[in-house]
Amino acid sequence: MLLKDRLALITGGSRGIGREIALAFAREGANLAVCDISPEGLENVRKEIEALGVKCEIYEADVQKKEQVDQTVQKILDTQGRIDILVNNAGVTKDNLIARMSESEWDLVLSINLKGTFLFTKAVCRSMIREGRGKIVNIASVIGLVGNLGQANYSASKAGVIALTKSAAREFARKNICVNAIAPGFIETQMTQALQEEMKQKALGGIPLGRFGKASDIAETALFLASDKADYITGQVIVVDGGMVM
Ligand SMILES: NC(=O)c1ccc[n+]([C@@H]2O[C@H](COP(=O)([O-])OP(=O)(O)OC[C@H]3O[C@@H](n4cnc5c(N)ncnc54)[C@H](O)[C@@H]3O)[C@@H](O)[C@H]2O)c1
Repeated sequence: MLLKDRLALITGGSRGIGREIALAFAREGANLAVCDISPEGLENVRKEIEALGVKCEIYEADVQKKEQVDQTVQKILDTQGRIDILVNNAGVTKDNLIARMSESEWDLVLSINLKGTFLFTKAVCRSMIREGRGKIVNIASVIGLVGNLGQANYSASKAGVIALTKSAAREFARKNICVNAIAPGFIETQMTQALQEEMKQKALGGIPLGRFGKASDIAETALFLASDKADYITGQVIVVDGGMVM
């Protein structure tokens, strides 16, 4: 088993990509701490994870709120003693053209996607430094690499996540903590379900592998980066997009 007895904390883990990562880690023997703003989603994912024979603690917390982030991490450390793996996955979109984008649409997306990643990284790093090892996997996006019409806030937040990943990788390398990002392309989750059919078909035309991604495609990459198999990889952005961006 790739993650036997490791403690992995996943943000935004009650559905979509985060849930799939949590389940993939559980199948490989990790115990889970899952944080999200959806209490029902958290209860459901806890049942699914526990059915796989590992432990799962759930935490209702908003990644933008420092106090909630710090309390979540402290509670995990009090009960589990350490956090081996952090996956910063929680993220949202609030699409609009720049001319129409409100300040609150900008602030919300930057706050959840980028500040949330910073807050959890900051809260967890002390424990990893003490342990002399750790794996941090940040979920960015190909949109953070190439930009997108109507997604100035989202693309800026994900470009920020990529830059944060590289800075953190440099800061923590001497402490044996690896920090990498995954840049998914178009993945079928509730986030992309809302898009119009016409937009989806257009996007599909730009994917050389000829299909949208599945949450499990991202989970498999996260599993690799969180495991000992990736011990010599840090500061990288792994694009998982069926060839959309190359
Ligand atoms: N689906 C895609 O095509 C795609 C592509 C590239 C990147 N991503 C990224 O992957 C990640 C997961 O996306 P998804 O498609 O699974 O989306 P999703 O909307 O299905 O899931 C997002 C999860 O994050 C949680 N969340 C939202 N705001 C939160 C907050 N403030 N605090 C804590 N939890 C919060 C939600 O409750 C939900 O469980 C996001 O960071 C997203 O930007 C997704």
